[in-house]
Amino acid sequence: MCGIVGAVADRDISDILIEGLKRLEYRGYDSAGVALIDQGKLNIRKEVGKVAALEKVLSAEHAGHTGIAHTRWATHGKPTEANAHPHFSGDKLAVVHNGIIENHESLREELSSKGYVFASETDTETIAHLIHLLMEEGKSLLEAVKAAIPRLEGAYGLAVVHADDPERIVCARSGSPLVLGLGFGENFLASDQLALRQVTDRFVYLDEGDIAEITRTSHTIWNVDGQQVERPVERIQGKADSADKGGYRHFMLKEIFEQPAVVKNTLQGRLGSDHILEQSFGNGASDILDKVQSVQIVACGTSYHAGMVAKYWIEGIAGIPCRVEVASEFRYRKFVVSPGTLLVTISQSGETADTLAALRLAKELDYCATLTVCNVAQSSLVRESDLALMTEAGPEIGVASTKAFTTQLTALLILTVALGRRYAIDKVKEAAIVSALHSLPGTLATALELDDEICGIAETFADKHHALFLGRGIQWPIAMEGALKLKEISYIHAESYPAGELKHGPLALVDDDMPVVAVAPNDELLEKLKSNLEEVQARGGQLYVFADKQAGFKNESGLTVIPVPHSEEIVAPILYTLPLQLLSYHVAVFKGTDVDQPRNLAKSVTVE
Ligand code: G6P
Repeated sequence: MCGIVGAVADRDISDILIEGLKRLEYRGYDSAGVALIDQGKLNIRKEVGKVAALEKVLSAEHAGHTGIAHTRWATHGKPTEANAHPHFSGDKLAVVHNGIIENHESLREELSSKGYVFASETDTETIAHLIHLLMEEGKSLLEAVKAAIPRLEGAYGLAVVHADDPERIVCARSGSPLVLGLGFGENFLASDQLALRQVTDRFVYLDEGDIAEITRTSHTIWNVDGQQVERPVERIQGKADSADKGGYRHFMLKEIFEQPAVVKNTLQGRLGSDHILEQSFGNGASDILDKVQSVQIVACGTSYHAGMVAKYWIEGIAGIPCRVEVASEFRYRKFVVSPGTLLVTISQSGETADTLAALRLAKELDYCATLTVCNVAQSSLVRESDLALMTEAGPEIGVASTKAFTTQLTALLILTVALGRRYAIDKVKEAAIVSALHSLPGTLATALELDDEICGIAETFADKHHALFLGRGIQWPIAMEGALKLKEISYIHAESYPAGELKHGPLALVDDDMPVVAVAPNDELLEKLKSNLEEVQARGGQLYVFADKQAGFKNESGLTVIPVPHSEEIVAPILYTLPLQLLSYHVAVFKGTDVDQPRNLAKSVTVE
């Protein structure tokens, strides 16, 4: 979703801003822009489309030592140049903003009545005019931002510059993340530290409600009560260059192939030879887990599918009641919290607006504790939850989530054991699950050897308009995730059904133009699934079955079998995810879509 980068330095910062925007491209956007202050003059340049297009039109006049930049994902108003950020008021003040100002209509009316003329349809432009108005009343840039903030309802991460105060950026955070990057004689800010890794490894994360200003030599922060505060400086080690496809054609393919390694990283330090290491959950975790009598999972998108799989594990193996719900529904529904319920959020980014809102809501209710399964250590979900079980997927750049999902499943299986050893999981069962987890990275690597074979069948999907994905039991959410991947990146309409529901509706759609994908491990539902698939064959449907080698499927007319290596049943949902990801990937490549940044989608959805 939208991205913010800003810099104050003693050198031209236009390249730093463009590089920062490029590093945020993966989040999804449809226009981009920069505002640079040079010798007391504000220069703004915006373009619809990619950052590369913006970079091309920047000329020598677009230089400066202070500036802000933005990638916009359209919410209020179409993706046009006028609606792109930065927005301005007069010829000296510019603003970039992530999030949504909910009272923008009343602000627009008020500001219009005071003579402000709006150049865009956006909510953000009201912020620019409001700050301008407050400065006209005699306030400094910082005072004006401080006075404007209480007037804004909704979510924002924003940054403001003024040409008359050319060595300062003022920024504020409420509901949308912002981080300051500290340099030597220069300072930066961004909505995600990834944007600044080329210039610094020292970061200061703003808290909810913080207002901050950066100059070349200082950074100052005020908390929600207006008191000046110090926030810790965090050093982020590790590989800075996320813009590296490592020889793969797309980030998505690279990330699919990273899965054996990142699943291994996620297991690291959490498994003994025959038991899980509960102390790896963090201080006080055992006391919290002791209290848990039921689980409520809340998440969005792919992370929600991980939650659906976990429900089968937590109820079926751990013996604990578990409910799972998409965050956008959960947060607006009245529900009953039973005593001893653990609220579990699942999120790659840790910043998804609905999931974060659900966590904040839950903290006011009677949950016994909150735990997040998350991939970003500095994220809001991690900061605001009692416990965090980190997935070690590393930065995921492809908008369609792959390695984040399988590492979430890995972490959730570990959580299942941690909870279940207090209920239905005995030592023998725990040892069996731990053994399956130990061999999982190797099994995943074998599944990736199917790549060429899957590429071979993908072409037959490229001219289809619809596809059906079927699974039973715990493989139903895997079929859902397979369908989601296909629609996200190839734009083919794909639906998933529990195979037993086929004859209650979707069978009417089946004909010889309808590919039907089925997930068929050798489990206790295999025979039931086979009868469902015969119903498809009898109607001329084209079946593609991802089947355990021992499941007894054979290639025949209308039935293509993709043999998946055998695995322990408990980890089969993780294993079967990989061939489905490869199928979507190759179909999208055949169709020529933008695999890593599919149209209309964002990596991190920080607005409702
Ligand atoms: C967006 C992304 C999805 C992701 C979902 C939830 O829709 O495109 O890939 O699953 O948000 O994101 P989260 O970061 O909370 O897992």
